[in-house]
Amino acid sequence: MRDLDEIVEEAEKLFNAIENADELEQAKARYLGKSGELTELLKGLGKLPAEKRPEAGSRINQTKNRLEVLLKDRRSSLQEKKLGEKLKEESLDVTLPGRGYGKGGLHPVTQTLIRIEALFRSIGYEVASGPEIENDFFNFTALNIPENHPARAMHDTFYVENGDLLRTHTSPVQIHFMLENKPPFKLIAPGRVYRCDSDVTHTPMFHQVEGLWIDEQANFAALKGILANFMENFFEREDLQVRFRPSFFPFTEPSAEMDISCVKCNGKGCRICGHTGWLEVLGCGMVHPNVLKHVNIDSEHYTGFAFGLGVERLAMLRYGVGDLRLFFENDLRFLRQFN
Ligand code: DAH
Repeated sequence: MRDLDEIVEEAEKLFNAIENADELEQAKARYLGKSGELTELLKGLGKLPAEKRPEAGSRINQTKNRLEVLLKDRRSSLQEKKLGEKLKEESLDVTLPGRGYGKGGLHPVTQTLIRIEALFRSIGYEVASGPEIENDFFNFTALNIPENHPARAMHDTFYVENGDLLRTHTSPVQIHFMLENKPPFKLIAPGRVYRCDSDVTHTPMFHQVEGLWIDEQANFAALKGILANFMENFFEREDLQVRFRPSFFPFTEPSAEMDISCVKCNGKGCRICGHTGWLEVLGCGMVHPNVLKHVNIDSEHYTGFAFGLGVERLAMLRYGVGDLRLFFENDLRFLRQFN
């Protein structure tokens, strides 16, 4: 019988030199496996004289236990080492700046619409809406633009299959509202409009806000006052100047276009206002009696005024945006500036 202490010593050296769990189990088999060294010693006990067997057997078993303890220690130290390596690999650098989350914001055109609505609501206007797919009657005829009228050609209309069309302005909402309600009323109708037109200053879809006041005493003086006041509040400029130029729209008579003093140069003249000092901001006028007739409102009793303005244009002027296309490209570097 080989000296048992020697076996333990040798096994300890062997186990400690092993760096991997599978190899450790193979090494275990060398001593404790089916034909391992200690197993063989146990098998050989029968060859010893009977009186020596108990002692030898117990010594062999003690040795087995010592090996088991050595194995257990080595297993756990290998496991710890592996865990340590893994933790080192996966370690987090908590000093790195965090990634945060992207916070969205309202599109500048939406913000402008909200602002326009709030200002008109504050003076008693309600907000109405109508369909974006219209028919000829609402978009043209009822607005005193009969068939073959040259104004139709000016509208660059998108037609859909059955002869319907994408509304070219928000004015048809006037017609819907007047057919469904009894005067007096004050309303604005914000919404999308479409024209078959696309260049540096035109996009096929843009936004307008229509305004309408029908009453017994709606007159041009009130129209001027309300619109001048709106522009002062919208641009937050008490010194804003306004002027009205005679114009033509089929649905209003008289008609006018309203200019404001340039918000960039205060009327001195600059690139934005084409060196005139003035910016054209909307069309307006007294509702044409023919329009009232189409919606069965007695034009002897009621009068009204109407106006229509372009939302992108007001947004560009308010925020100093030089290129209309920026509103439609969804470049986050542009949009983030409005958060
Ligand atoms: N509908 C006109 C347009 O697109 C704008 C407009 C002008 C609306 C005068 C009005 C108005 O209500 O009175 O271009």
